[in-house]
Amino acid sequence: MLISPSILSADFLNLGSQVRMLNRAADMIHLDVMDGTFVPNISFGFGLISSVARESTIPLDAHLMIVNPDKYLERFAKAGVRMLSFHLEAALDAGRDPAELLRAVRALGMKPGLAFDPDVPVEDCFPYLDETDYIVVMSVFAGFGGQKFIPASLDRVRTLKAEIARRGLPCLVEIDGGVTAENAAGIAAAGADILVAGNAVFGAADPEAAIARIKGN
Ligand code: DX5
Ligand code: ZN
Repeated sequence: MLISPSILSADFLNLGSQVRMLNRAADMIHLDVMDGTFVPNISFGFGLISSVARESTIPLDAHLMIVNPDKYLERFAKAGVRMLSFHLEAALDAGRDPAELLRAVRALGMKPGLAFDPDVPVEDCFPYLDETDYIVVMSVFAGFGGQKFIPASLDRVRTLKAEIARRGLPCLVEIDGGVTAENAAGIAAAGADILVAGNAVFGAADPEAAIARIKGN
């Protein structure tokens, strides 16, 4: 099980030391990019991402909760992002073919991922599985950290993993939202490969110890 802590809940005034801690304790760094339009929240952009990229020694896992994600792929690649997921809903709303966008992400040297909210049928991502390196199953509605894990997400992970296995694809499943040390083992048992955690990590007195607890160490 890989851990991708979300810095959305981190202390931005001490981001350098938080990134150095993540370099030691985590597998990748989850960057929740929010534009205030696709989701009713605004987080951070290329300046912060480039700074994090200078300090990080582990992959940057950008989760784009933005409209028109196709417009910014190159800039995220230049900023140092290694894994990039966009929302299926945003691609479709922009009238773009998600498969084409996934290929564009890969052509820029990033691992392509596809995310979708809890109200999107998990089957909606099936046509794109062979173009993705990972699927982000949202276990909260996109937009805010610190929300409660939606239990129905476990069955969605199981359904997705079964389809991936049936087709013999290498695609990984990333679960995003409301992950804690208490529910992590059940989420991993359902088949999630990458666990995102924001509030459970940076809301803890000792974020490094919190990551170890989520990993089950
Ligand atoms: C929500 C983000 C999640 C969230 C995770 O829109 O995509 O990555 O920040 O944070 P927690 O673990 O606090 O739910
Ligand atoms: Zn996220």
